[in-house]
Amino acid sequence: MQESRLKELLSDLTIEEKVGQLVQIPGSFFEEDFVITGPANAMNFTKEDLRLAGSVLSVVGAEKLTDIQKRFMDEHPHHIPLLFMADIINGYRTIFPVPLAQGASFHPALSKKAAEVAALESAYAGLHLLFSPMVDLSRDARWGRVMESTGEDPYLNSLFAAAIVEGYQGGKGADGHPALTEKGRLSACVKHFAAYGGAIGGRDYNTVELSERTLREEYLPSYQAAVEAGTETVMTSFNVLNRIPASGNRHLMRDILRQEWGFDGVLISDWAAIAELVSHGIAEDQKEAAYLAMQAGVDIDMCTRCYAGNLKELVEEGRIPETRLDEAVLRVLRLKNRLGLFEDPFKDADASQEKTYILCNENRKLSREAAAESFVLLKNEGALPLTDTDSTAFIGPFTDSARINGAWSIFAGEKDAVSIEAGIKNAGFSSKTAKGCLFSADYPLQGMGGKNADYLSDEKEEEALLQEAVRLAGACETVVLTLGELNIMTGEAASRGMLDIPSKQQRLLREIYKVNQNIVTVLFTGRPLDLREVSALSKALLVVWQPGSEGGNAICDVLSGKVSPSGKLPMSFPYCVGQVPVYYNELSTGRRYREGDPNKFLSKYIDIPNAPLYPFGFGLSYSAFAISEIMLDRDILPMGSGESIHASVTVKNTGEREAAEVVQLYIRDEVASTARPVRALKGIEKVFLKPGEEKKVSFAISEDMLRLYGADDEFRAEKGDFTIYIGNSSETENAARFSLS
Ligand code: NOJ
Repeated sequence: MQESRLKELLSDLTIEEKVGQLVQIPGSFFEEDFVITGPANAMNFTKEDLRLAGSVLSVVGAEKLTDIQKRFMDEHPHHIPLLFMADIINGYRTIFPVPLAQGASFHPALSKKAAEVAALESAYAGLHLLFSPMVDLSRDARWGRVMESTGEDPYLNSLFAAAIVEGYQGGKGADGHPALTEKGRLSACVKHFAAYGGAIGGRDYNTVELSERTLREEYLPSYQAAVEAGTETVMTSFNVLNRIPASGNRHLMRDILRQEWGFDGVLISDWAAIAELVSHGIAEDQKEAAYLAMQAGVDIDMCTRCYAGNLKELVEEGRIPETRLDEAVLRVLRLKNRLGLFEDPFKDADASQEKTYILCNENRKLSREAAAESFVLLKNEGALPLTDTDSTAFIGPFTDSARINGAWSIFAGEKDAVSIEAGIKNAGFSSKTAKGCLFSADYPLQGMGGKNADYLSDEKEEEALLQEAVRLAGACETVVLTLGELNIMTGEAASRGMLDIPSKQQRLLREIYKVNQNIVTVLFTGRPLDLREVSALSKALLVVWQPGSEGGNAICDVLSGKVSPSGKLPMSFPYCVGQVPVYYNELSTGRRYREGDPNKFLSKYIDIPNAPLYPFGFGLSYSAFAISEIMLDRDILPMGSGESIHASVTVKNTGEREAAEVVQLYIRDEVASTARPVRALKGIEKVFLKPGEEKKVSFAISEDMLRLYGADDEFRAEKGDFTIYIGNSSETENAARFSLS
């Protein structure tokens, strides 16, 4: 539809009909078979709301959505189609590793492919918009939602943000927008704007207080990268940011998002976040909340009647100009138009493709590859790869479990996920298996979608499982112990104050260790954990996160050596919870402590180390790599020249296996007008090498990459010396210097 036709349509709408476009209603009102992803208390929608609504969330399925769309459009006075949105985070039915795991692959191009698959599966299921990527910088392992992000680094997060947006939407066309009418191209929704991951104490929905510099240099780049990649929508966050709730925050949404970054797409609130302006105490009632959110620039109200019940009155009273209402409605209509819904309101919904394409072999293959690439080998004293799977026992609560998708995989059946036990069969191993214990959280868990299974245990049953496992362990050469967090221990509303594995699992580890010290731990988790004991009692330790549909097969691929692990930690694994938040790119302090320094008055703990147990960027391989000294093509970069310095290294696979290494470039700004990170990631390249093969990896360093918010609040590079580090973890000391002058 032409823009002029859209504007005519807009001018034909009554105020009620306009407001309708800004109202999002949960699927429950349209269809019983849906998933609930937020509190239901704020929803008291009327029949009229349902008749005029603009969008629906959390219902899926080609037939269902086609039917809802038909019925809705027949009733709507102007036959405007609904937008169908849902929480597709790491896949629709073919589930990929959780985003944190994808971050560990350090391979954004692979995540882009996964996003393409997720979009096409979702498109056949009738959806138009996916609520991801979530790009909140995550430094606090206690926060349950770290598993939804790609971790603690602004640069790495930005790469993944852009890759996933492009995977869903395709690249931008000449008009600055993607071609969403193409099959399988859906709108992304970047969330949660902004700085949701900065919650104090890691407690979900909690307050965020950040300096404007930290906000801009560390928290905002990933959202901006998504906007630059063309995301059509952005979701606000629940948190207060510097005392103003994000969902009513004009500075964030008008000054930064719209004005500075030029975002002209749709801004949607998170679930009931507008109504929560009342609970935050900045709005007296829902009408004031609607006023604040609307003026701050939020276009769609997710799952409350704040807009439905109050916008008309606010416009009639003259408090909200009708032009502001029109601006928001036009954005929604434009998005529908870009998706081609006025021509074809069902877009790609296709029941027969749903049957053949969803979970097809190709998609599973990609999921298996993505899972294997995300695994991080933290320790290996010669125990991996397994040399004799026949004399290996697989023990632990994850061994026969298909509960290996992330918490957000709400439309995927566990029956479609490959457990380790199934993976063992598929690989043809004749290893024996035992459960050892149940998942056994030490506290009650509330599941998503009402799922609530085997985490609480019965004492007698537990004892019998343990004894069986100990007997088996004693009779085998090697034990692969499958431990960790059940998927619903991470995710929304799943913050933790402790970062250990459940005590029953700890007991299992200790009891097995008494009879067999040849332990390979395969750790399932959605967050960094305190692994001191697990690591000490294991000969090898492989983090497999929440690996998705092909988890069991991918784990067997890596354990057997068919694939060498190549993941790197996207978040530091702390020594213990008292260090959290702990991240590699901390600011230089006036009293920096270096391991072994005997001075007392330094920035350190007296009882634990400063360093995390495993740092950002770290991960081992079955092969070995030599990274040469850094070669610089010059050591002075003239300011304002627009030129670059090229820093290169040669990477050689000196081991005996085909494997991949992630080459990482970090830069340290030696002197600046504001405190700088001790080092910051500025480039990555994942190289795949055969034994003996070598490759030159070169990074171009430009002035842009050196910019900071200086003491004068200007965003620019400052002249002086810089240290470059290139290596295979954030702790590399392979360094060179240059100056910007
Ligand atoms: C709340 C979550 O914060 C958000 O990530 C999600 O997309 C919405 N609910 C919709 O389910």
